[in-house]
Amino acid sequence: MAASADEPLVITDKAEMREWSSSMRRQGRTIGLVPTMGYLHEGHLSLVREARRRGDVVVVSVYVNPGQFAPSEDLSTYPSDFEGDLRKLKAVPGGVEVVFHPHDLYDYGQRQAGDQVGGSGVNSDNVSVSCLEEKGLGHETWVRAERLEKGMCGKSRPVFFRGVATVVTKLFNIVEPDVAVFGKKDYQQWRIIRRLVRDLDFSIQVIGSEVMRDHDGLALSSRNVYLSPEEREKYHLGIVHKQVIVKS
Ligand code: PAJ
Repeated sequence: MAASADEPLVITDKAEMREWSSSMRRQGRTIGLVPTMGYLHEGHLSLVREARRRGDVVVVSVYVNPGQFAPSEDLSTYPSDFEGDLRKLKAVPGGVEVVFHPHDLYDYGQRQAGDQVGGSGVNSDNVSVSCLEEKGLGHETWVRAERLEKGMCGKSRPVFFRGVATVVTKLFNIVEPDVAVFGKKDYQQWRIIRRLVRDLDFSIQVIGSEVMRDHDGLALSSRNVYLSPEEREKYHLGIVHKQVIVKS
């Protein structure tokens, strides 16, 4: 399992990922993790450069997480270009050692009757569900920052932050990084991750990296490909003029 930072090793299996991380730790090397959903842009790459500065080896995860999408959202059309992502990561000075692109993150083997909910977006208790529950994989343990997940984006996306906190917890348990880098562009997400690391006693340093913006000032985002020029203008104004305050 040799890794060279010129050519990232692509790991798709969570057991293999654990094994790689353990072997790094045995060699006394610190691990930096950058969780992403792929379709990488300069904002993501700035996080990778930060992880490069802080860890001996760098793991970038690329995983479009069904647990944070509501059935009405864009899981099936979320943009992706895995080969392009690999090329971009290879071009980062120093490269990255591993790209973790799991196919089995929520695969626990046997399914049971009752695992799958219908396509209505709510379960039998009328509670909102994500695309993960719709897949019927039997996952039912969620990590929630009960107060921090409620305001702002949490109001319109009731399953979003629980899905993010849960997948990030899983990634932390599998990769066992020393340092993890997140963007302050997603400020509420960053605060929730800091809180879960503190509350659940993860021994991980969480770094918040500054927002990277496009030439017109709009924050870079994988979903910007959805925007027309008029929408770009609207979102840009909305984002840069809104003061957002989260109390910790
Ligand atoms: P994704 O939207 O791919 O973003 C991955 C990371 O890149 C996040 O920490 C995000 O805040 C950061 N990022 C995105 N655009 C940025 C920009 N313009 N400047 C600086 N940082 C930026 O956020 C997610 O994925 C997911 O929710 C994830 C944490 C991976 C869990 O599934």
